[in-house]
Amino acid sequence: MALLRVLTPPLFLSFFFVAALTTPRGASALTRRDFPEGFVFGAGSSAYQVEGAASEDRRKPSIWDTWSHQGYSFDGSTADVSADQYHHYKEDVKLMHNMGLDAYRFSIAWPRLIPDGRGQINPKGLEYYNSLIDELILNGIQPHVTIYHFDLPQVLQDEYGGLLSPKFIEDYTSYAEVCFKSFGDRVKHWVTVNEPNIEPIGGYDTGFQPPRRCSYPFGVDCAGGNSSTEPYIAAHHLLLAHASAVSLYREKYKETQGGQIGITLLGWWHEPATNTPQDAAAARRMTEFHIGWFMHPLVYGDYPPVMRSRVGARLPVLTAPVSKKVRRSFDFIGFNHYIIMRIRSIDTNSSQQPRDYYVDAAVQNPADNISKVQVETAPWSLSKLLEHLKLNYGNPPVWIHENGYGSAAPGALSKTEYDYDDANRTEFLQDYLEVLQLSTRNGSNARGYFVWSFLDVFEFLFGYQLRFGLCGVDMSDPGRTRYVRNSARWYSGFLHGGELRPVAQSEKPYSEK
Ligand SMILES: *[C@@H]1O[C@H](CO)[C@@H](O)[C@H](O)[C@H]1NC(C)=O
Ligand SMILES: *[C@@H]1O[C@H](CO)[C@@H](O)[C@H](O)[C@H]1NC(C)=O
Ligand SMILES: *[C@@H]1O[C@H](CO)[C@@H](O)[C@H](O)[C@H]1NC(C)=O
Ligand SMILES: *[C@@H]1O[C@H](CO)[C@@H](O)[C@H](O)[C@H]1NC(C)=O
Ligand SMILES: *[C@@H]1O[C@H](CO)[C@@H](O)[C@H](O)[C@H]1NC(C)=O
Repeated sequence: MALLRVLTPPLFLSFFFVAALTTPRGASALTRRDFPEGFVFGAGSSAYQVEGAASEDRRKPSIWDTWSHQGYSFDGSTADVSADQYHHYKEDVKLMHNMGLDAYRFSIAWPRLIPDGRGQINPKGLEYYNSLIDELILNGIQPHVTIYHFDLPQVLQDEYGGLLSPKFIEDYTSYAEVCFKSFGDRVKHWVTVNEPNIEPIGGYDTGFQPPRRCSYPFGVDCAGGNSSTEPYIAAHHLLLAHASAVSLYREKYKETQGGQIGITLLGWWHEPATNTPQDAAAARRMTEFHIGWFMHPLVYGDYPPVMRSRVGARLPVLTAPVSKKVRRSFDFIGFNHYIIMRIRSIDTNSSQQPRDYYVDAAVQNPADNISKVQVETAPWSLSKLLEHLKLNYGNPPVWIHENGYGSAAPGALSKTEYDYDDANRTEFLQDYLEVLQLSTRNGSNARGYFVWSFLDVFEFLFGYQLRFGLCGVDMSDPGRTRYVRNSARWYSGFLHGGELRPVAQSEKPYSEK
C-alpha cells in the first residue's frame, strides 16, 4: 500500500544536520556517559499492541479489538495474538536484561485488569502485571507504566459514549487507583494517558481510529459523530481524567510510594510548507493546536489563546477550580516523536461552516495528501521540539517515550535483511540520540529515551505491515519466535558503555588497528 511506503521514514536531511553539529567521527565518540547523570535508556510497547491473549483469562474487548475485528487495520489483521507477550514475558525480560535496558515502558490493559470497565478487579489481570513487574525488577529493569494507552473497554463506549461522557473521568480515576494501589509499591514512573492530542482527532474528527466518529465532510465513512465539537470534548475529558488521577496520586500515594507521574503527548513537529509568512504562521498555529492544546493548560491553566479565539464556544471551559487542578498536574511530560508535518495555511473566516480541528487551525489537514507526500523525518526536529518546550513551557522534565524506525513488512525485503540486517534502524537511532545529547548539553531537561519498539508489535492502523522492533517477531510462527536484530546488538553495545556511533573496524585510524 502506498501509505505504508510513505510512512517508512526516509533519512534525507539527517546527515546534513548531524555533520554540522558534531565533531568528526572518531575524534570524540559519544558514549552514554556523555548524557546527564541518571539518564535512562529503555524501549517500549503498549498492552493492546504486544500482549495478545485477547480473550484469555477474562480479558474483555477494548474499542481497538472491535475496530480490528471489523477489518479496519491496513492489513486486515488484529492483535488477538500479536507478539504474545502475555505468554512470553519471562523470555522478553531476559532479552531486555541481556540488551542492557535500564527501563521498559509498557501499559496496563484496562479491559484485562477491570474487564467491565468499573467494579470487579480480574485476579488473573492482577497476577499478570504483578508477575511482569516482579520479573522486570528482579532483572534490574525499571517499569515505566502507562495507565491508559488507547484501549478503552468497549463496554464503556457502549454504555455512555466513552470519552464523550464525563463519566469517563470517574471510571478512569477508579481504574488508575487500582493501578496505584496494586503496583505503586514497585512502579515509580506513571504515565496517566498516552497521546491525548491524537486520540480525539483519529477517533472523533477524521474517524480513522476507533470509535470511528466524524461528520461530513471531515471523515471517511463515519457512523455518527460531530467533527466540530466532539474532538474538543474528548480531549477535555482526557485532560480532566489525567488531572484527577494526578491529584489522587499526590494526595494518597505519592508520599508513601515516592513515584513520579506525568502524561505523554504525540510530538509531531510542524514546519511551514513554503517560505510564505502565511505558512509560517500556520505552522505556529498548528503547533499550538497540537502541543499547546495540552501543554498550555498543564503549565498555564487554560487552553492556548489562539484556540480560545478560533474555536470559541465549542472549546470547553476550564473553570477556576478545574484550572487550578490541571495546572502543574505533572512531574514530567513524555513525548512520542517521529515525524515532521509540512503545514499550509488555508483561508477561513469565523462564519465558515462546518468546521473541524484543522479548519479551526486554518491549516490544510497535512494527512489529506498523505499518499502524495513523503512523510518526512530528520533528527533536527527533535531538537526543535525540545527547544520549543524549553522556551515556551519553562523547560519541564521531558521523557522521549517513543522514537523509532519502521520498516516495511517482508515481501519488500529479503528474510535476512528483514530479520537481522536493519542498518537503517541503527543509523536512525544513532542520529536521534546524537541530537538528543546535544540538546541536553544546550539546556534541555530531557531525562530519558525509549526506543519504539522493543519487539515487533501490532501497529495502530498498520497492523503488521510496519515493524519497529529492535527484536523481530515471526508473526507466522505459532511460537512467535523472537529475533535479535543488528540494531538491538548495537543498542546493547551502547548501553554497556560502547560508542554511540562505533567506528567500523575498516574505518579505524591505522594506529588503532
Ligand atoms: C534503507 O534506507 C534507504 C534510504 O532511505 C532505502 O533506499 C533502503 O531501501 C532502506 N533499506 C531497508 C532494508 O529498508
Ligand atoms: C455539531 O454540533 C454543533 C453544536 O451543537 C451543531 O451546531 C452542529 O450542527 C453539529 N453538527 C453535526 C454534523 O451534527
Ligand atoms: C467566509 O467564508 C465563507 C466560505 O468560504 C464565504 O462564503 C463567506 O463569504 C466568507 N465571509 C467573509 C465575511 O469573508
Ligand atoms: C495537497 O494537494 C493539493 C492538490 O495537489 C495541493 O494543492 C495542496 O497544496 C497539497 N497540500 C499539501 C499539504 O501538500
Ligand atoms: C541552544 O539554546 C539556545 C537558547 O535557548 C538557542 O537559541 C539555540 O538555538 C540552541 N541551539 C541548538 C543547537 O538547539
